[in-house]
Amino acid sequence: MTIFSRVLGTGSYLPEKVLTNGDLEGMVDTTDQWIRERTGILKRHVAGPDETCVDLAEAAARNALDAAGLKPTDIDLIVMATTTPDQVFPSSACLLQQRLDIHGCAAFDVQAVCTGFVYAVAVADKFIRTGTSKCALVVGAETLSRLLNWEDRGTSVLFGDGAGAVILGASDEPGIISTHLHADGAYKDLLQVPAGIGNGQRGSPFMEMRGNEVFRVAVTTLGRIVDETLEAAGMDQADIDWLIPHQANIRIIQATARKLNLPMDRVVVTVDEHGNTSAASIPLAFDQAVRDGRIRRGETLLMEAFGGGFTWGSVLLTY
Ligand code: UT7
Repeated sequence: MTIFSRVLGTGSYLPEKVLTNGDLEGMVDTTDQWIRERTGILKRHVAGPDETCVDLAEAAARNALDAAGLKPTDIDLIVMATTTPDQVFPSSACLLQQRLDIHGCAAFDVQAVCTGFVYAVAVADKFIRTGTSKCALVVGAETLSRLLNWEDRGTSVLFGDGAGAVILGASDEPGIISTHLHADGAYKDLLQVPAGIGNGQRGSPFMEMRGNEVFRVAVTTLGRIVDETLEAAGMDQADIDWLIPHQANIRIIQATARKLNLPMDRVVVTVDEHGNTSAASIPLAFDQAVRDGRIRRGETLLMEAFGGGFTWGSVLLTY
């Protein structure tokens, strides 16, 4: 019998503190109008001084467990996508496991920057399909605000903090139809945090991005991943009920929607309220649209993301 993984529940969490474009006008040489017109962002949430990435992840995970009607002890795999782990090690997945008071199951982080959640879902899906796991907690959580140089208007106006989670369970019907992952490290200099452990922490500890160049590659690459995903499934554009894109820039999202011939009311957009929350953006958007009743059981969803590395990928699923 073929085993598939199905979404049993979704959850999310946003820090209380909100930073509006107006607030940023007082911090850096920018305007509300520029940010709205070039990115679609109106505001973003920012973690408090004592709030960590694992704090956000724990809240989203408990929220997803409640939605699925499950207990932490039902989980037998934790995959956490983050670019902003609380510590170098243990992994954030292990720290989350400790918070949830569960013991012994596999727990590890996936680092694929803004494509992290797509990578994490793809990995968990393979664990479930091979019969290794039956119930996976997959989290995308970020405190990107800690990687920002608040004087750099090219990045500081774009990003926010948050977390989203899904519970994937083994099922004899799909579920996840297919996942597609790619990367090309040749683009490493266009979007990076130069400092690291291996280089003696030399270089800036803040995010650096050549935004315009990233934008151009993102639009063409996301167009290609949409084609690849539909072709692999033998589907066409009309089979997609909802697009849940990574939320970096409304103009990138609109370009992918046009490629799919999808009206914007079939696209889940949160970039206006959350900014770019990297690995958290897709599960945050997914949870929002499930909770407000837009996404219903049986509908076909396409998730796609693009980010530092470069990395990019997609998940096609029946909810
Ligand atoms: O999630 C991971 C992947 N990341 C992305 O997908 C981000 C992709 N990139 C983008 O979303 C866009 O490129 C940005 C939003 C980052 C920038 O928008 P853009 O339309 O590509 O602007 P630009 O970089 O070409 O800059 C246009 C102008 C420049 O001024 P000049 O040279 O024309 O005088 C910038 O200096 O806008 C200026 N500018 C700003 N002005 C006000 C750049 N940032 C700002 C700012 N406020 N925050």
